[in-house]
Amino acid sequence: MGKARNLIVVLWWYLAGGTVICKDIWDVRNNIERLPRVLNFFPVPIPEECNANDGRRKGICMNTYECRMEGGKSYGFCAHGFGVCCVFTATCNDEISNNSTYFVNPDFPDLTSGMTFCSSTIRIADEDVVQLRFDFVHFNLGQPNRRTGVCEEDVFLVTRGDDVQKNLVLCGLNSGQHAYFDVGTADGTIKISMNMSRRAVTRLWEVRITQIPFSQRAPTGCLQYFEGTSGTIKTMNFAENGRHLANQDYNICVRQDEGACSIAYEPCHEDSFRIHPNRDGTTDEETGSGDGEPRQSDDCNDRITVPCDSEDLLLTDDELQEGILAHCETTHCGGSLCAGEEGPCRIESTVTPFVIGVHFGENVRDVSPEDNLGMCLNYEQLPCNV
Ligand SMILES: *[C@@H]1O[C@H](CO)[C@@H](O)[C@H](O)[C@H]1NC(C)=O
Ligand SMILES: *[C@@H]1O[C@H](CO)[C@@H](O)[C@H](O)[C@H]1NC(C)=O
Ligand SMILES: *[C@@H]1O[C@H](CO)[C@@H](O)[C@H](O)[C@H]1NC(C)=O
Repeated sequence: MGKARNLIVVLWWYLAGGTVICKDIWDVRNNIERLPRVLNFFPVPIPEECNANDGRRKGICMNTYECRMEGGKSYGFCAHGFGVCCVFTATCNDEISNNSTYFVNPDFPDLTSGMTFCSSTIRIADEDVVQLRFDFVHFNLGQPNRRTGVCEEDVFLVTRGDDVQKNLVLCGLNSGQHAYFDVGTADGTIKISMNMSRRAVTRLWEVRITQIPFSQRAPTGCLQYFEGTSGTIKTMNFAENGRHLANQDYNICVRQDEGACSIAYEPCHEDSFRIHPNRDGTTDEETGSGDGEPRQSDDCNDRITVPCDSEDLLLTDDELQEGILAHCETTHCGGSLCAGEEGPCRIESTVTPFVIGVHFGENVRDVSPEDNLGMCLNYEQLPCNV
């Protein structure tokens, strides 16, 4: 009788939950071991962009096994659990061949100190890749020469070997900025390097490097390409105690929204436009930096250009395709985007493609860095039927 009762108790335990507990433990262990292999039999998730579960970075959705084999790290699930969000990180002396790799200082997320040189090679694996996009998530390097604006002690340099003209050179504070870089025909290899001053200083950077296929490229001649209906545009090293960089000659482009016919620009705040004209052979008194005087275009050696609305301006489709920009441009420099105009400052343009030109040379004379902050503008695309 006793035996039978024991049997009933065991049976009851078995049926009531014991089995569930045991089975669960068995399942979990089994799945942990089997997960990568099991996932590997499922169709590979489309290698789409995903959000890492650190709430910050972006990765590529792939299966666990693939992610590990490629040298990435899993940050949560994607593709309804069939893939993991795989994040790639590289630092000095690493070769970067995976799309969407974060290039960071060796001690990231801590500061690195006492380092003077760090370089890395980017290998373009896919023939379809025509550009690299650098997203400067964190970019905290030393300032340029306060007088000339040239990056001397600290230099972030991207080279593609065949053409010095095409080098990308940056320094200072550029967190939140981005830049497109043409891959060209540089036998598939691009070099990035960080030179840092010998003084004992701390540095921090995290640069996301995305390989951009032809279908997703930024238009020719656009160092920066913004895709939102509204957004904020800044010149490089626009920061407190910053100073715009010398030797800049590029376009900031905004992708025209469907249904948008014009674009409006406004300074981010009162002091967000400071571009000394940097004229040769005149004194600071004469140039009257920051005084809000209207300026003729030939007055501005350092300048921002916005194509102006003009009925004479007819570009052929070919020219537009090649990114040849309007011949008619209004030029801005000095202490205000809207020099000499009353009321709130706002510029509108119906000229497409939407583009702002940035042209800065080396400063020739002593000018206070405050007069060379650069610019920060908010833009907004405006619908056609207003
Ligand atoms: C690289 O990743 C981005 C998304 O993060 C994607 O848009 C792009 O197409 C990828 N490039 C290649 C060559 O697959
Ligand atoms: C990704 O990077 C790793 C490590 O550098 C490399 O072994 C792998 O081949 C790369 N994958 C691709 C698709 O380039
Ligand atoms: C950076 O440092 C390397 C090695 O110290 C040197 O060869 C190179 O010329 C430097 N580049 C720049 C742009 O200062």
